[in-house]
Amino acid sequence: MTADQEIVVIQVSRHFVILTIFENQFLVYKKLGNKLQEMKNQILLLLPVMLLLSCVSSKTVNDKVEPITLDSKVDMIEPVTSDSRVDALLKKMTLEQKIGQMNQYTGFFDITGPAPEDGDTKVKYDQIKNGLVGSMLNVHGAEQVRALQKLAVENSPHGIPMIFANDVVHGYKTLSPIPLAEAASWDLEAIENSARIAAIEASAVGINWTFAPMVDISRDARWGRVMEGGGEDPFLGSKIAAARVKGFQGDDLSAINTIAACTKHFAAYGFAESGKDYNTTDIGTSTLYNVVLPPFKATVDADVATFMNSFNELNGIPATGDKYLQRTILKGEWGFKGMMVSDWGSIGEMIPHGFAKDGKQAAVIAANAGCDMDMESRLYIQHLKKAVEEGNVDMKHIDDAVRRILQLKENVGLFDDPYKYCDAQREKEMVYNEVLMDGVLHMAKKSIVLLKNESKLLPLESSDKKIALIGELAADKNGPLGNWRVSSDDNTAVSVKEAIEARTGNEITYEHGVKIFYGEQHFVQELGVNNDDPAGISNAVALAKKSDVVIMVLGEHGLQSGEGRSRADLGLPGLQQEMLEAVYEVNKNIILVLMNGRPLAIPWAAENVPTILEAWQLGTRSGDAIASVLYGEYNPSGKLPMTFPRDVGQVPIYYNHKSTGRPGPAPLVFWSHYNDMTNEPLFVFGHGESYTTFDYSNFSITGNQVSVKVTNSGDYDGEEVVQLYIRDKFASVVRPIKELKGFEKIFLAKGDSKTVNFTLTDELLGFYDNQGKYVVEDGEFDIMVGGSSATELSAEFVLNNQKKIP
Ligand code: NOJ
Repeated sequence: MTADQEIVVIQVSRHFVILTIFENQFLVYKKLGNKLQEMKNQILLLLPVMLLLSCVSSKTVNDKVEPITLDSKVDMIEPVTSDSRVDALLKKMTLEQKIGQMNQYTGFFDITGPAPEDGDTKVKYDQIKNGLVGSMLNVHGAEQVRALQKLAVENSPHGIPMIFANDVVHGYKTLSPIPLAEAASWDLEAIENSARIAAIEASAVGINWTFAPMVDISRDARWGRVMEGGGEDPFLGSKIAAARVKGFQGDDLSAINTIAACTKHFAAYGFAESGKDYNTTDIGTSTLYNVVLPPFKATVDADVATFMNSFNELNGIPATGDKYLQRTILKGEWGFKGMMVSDWGSIGEMIPHGFAKDGKQAAVIAANAGCDMDMESRLYIQHLKKAVEEGNVDMKHIDDAVRRILQLKENVGLFDDPYKYCDAQREKEMVYNEVLMDGVLHMAKKSIVLLKNESKLLPLESSDKKIALIGELAADKNGPLGNWRVSSDDNTAVSVKEAIEARTGNEITYEHGVKIFYGEQHFVQELGVNNDDPAGISNAVALAKKSDVVIMVLGEHGLQSGEGRSRADLGLPGLQQEMLEAVYEVNKNIILVLMNGRPLAIPWAAENVPTILEAWQLGTRSGDAIASVLYGEYNPSGKLPMTFPRDVGQVPIYYNHKSTGRPGPAPLVFWSHYNDMTNEPLFVFGHGESYTTFDYSNFSITGNQVSVKVTNSGDYDGEEVVQLYIRDKFASVVRPIKELKGFEKIFLAKGDSKTVNFTLTDELLGFYDNQGKYVVEDGEFDIMVGGSSATELSAEFVLNNQKKIP
């Protein structure tokens, strides 16, 4: 099941009305029953107004002024060789067959059963047989894929294999931590490896293509999809994006255990106004070029095979229909040779956006803008042929799109063997394979961030202590799997309770405490949260009273972040805060283990609770990873990839903000601040403690070489992420007060030291001006190094044009 929406197209005379319902059509369609009918009726009532508006706007819709600032290179790809298989096929295919390749459907029935006899299922089935479907998503398992592939290969006119896609975001069944958690590791090798694990397992069940990585930078923890990205910083985000592409794709896309990656969502989806999913984005050129686009570009440089556009409109243009983004920048300026798929139904969503008057115009706009494949809006297959015949879409755009799609299939190896990835034996061996299970545990440990450890309650010793383990999430085997676990099995995470109880040396007693979640836990449904019934708090308090130490596992369920799961409140959901405070009254020795898919605003806990461990949603081996950190078997080394606010009112809050003309603090009110709260976040970007301590010394800049000595001055071996920040103090376009420009994760045995070096290059010191041109300007820079973005170790560096650095 995907978290998505389906476009239901109801024909009303010559016009189309689009209703959006959740993708899980059978389940939700039935549940929505009357509601849906009501919606239809409302839309029918509004129809005259919509038609009038569409007539008024239809003239101007395609008349967009192309920005002239970028030197647009050719946005078409050339044939690889004139006698390539792709080219030969293109010559033979009819227009309809070509458009068929641009059509992607979701899985629809058990293909190993009898053939469908009617309805939508039969339409899809027949279209596959006729070569009118280029790709499928959400088809699971080697046997299912083989059967569908057979339908296409053995029946369709040219026997072109379909390419099978899936949202393998942080694993297929064996789940790594959610991507935001992985980002907290700042460990590019581990992150690449985690994507390899996902590719190995997914490729064994017939999947050729994942819709990952999501590289959307976001500064707003309310947005549910921050769980799926690399956090708020474009430098870290770019490195992670490239590492994930490399992990999925390996060196050879046609290898049996690699899959094509898909960089998404192009672009600016993470800047949804007020953090509300699918909302409008409106950002300036400086933010677009310097913050939003760099991770996308990094994946093009890493040879990503595909891109996905996005649901949002950016500055008034829906991304799916944005020619400037897709043709001028991506396929032109950046020379991207791969293929662009729409997001689910996003071509059709240009109608409710108010950009296209009907399905036909939406298809025309998307195809002209450079969207090569239509995911489930069905508008290409319905309208593109006519649109080309009427001269509204140039045949060269169709050929270019199809060439990109066929080339992808060629690169994946499907023309050599369409059943290459459909080996049931391999599937059996790889799914939940032990080596993969160990790999995700490794990633999970590295993703944990020690936010504070004031009274050194951690690491726990095996010393016959009475330990209370409290919280619904402590025993939860489902929530820690995260949101994007569509292919995995429910309740397959190792819980904290299971992992802690497996360790000897202390007396562990578990208490569920207050109920947090209720109702069905389903990818497409809202999760119920108990805000009223305090039952269970008293039991938690009673247990805490007679315990030496209390471990409280609190936070969010995996289904509280992700697509369509924005939150307006960033505190602990339900009555968990009340329970935490009640327990604190009787026992202050609290170790708070947070599980969450986004930064939380927990000022009371940060102030009062002595030890806080950020454990996100860590996937299949969650409990094992957490227990190993609690017991000091692994020394936590994660650093926050996103700022934690004190209060939702501070959001968007991010470390690389601008200074403003009135940075303050000032004695009078006239400076940039709140009257009722500090500007400071709760936990800064890059923050994360360890059981040991690291000292920084000998900081120096010689020429363009920065160096600093880091010493492990504590009692444990450990890893530190040494971070380099710059501030360009004045520039032709105002620069942030701090920008991450380098980092290195080092291991130091206790007592050991290491000198870490960074080189200040043009690539690090420049920025994009408002015309999208990369410029490097002379002047003064502050160069800062340390273990977080709050570092005060700073020195000045002067960049002088006369002595241009390499
Ligand atoms: C919609 C999501 O936005 C996208 O990220 C995902 O890949 C598709 N649905 C397919 O499930």
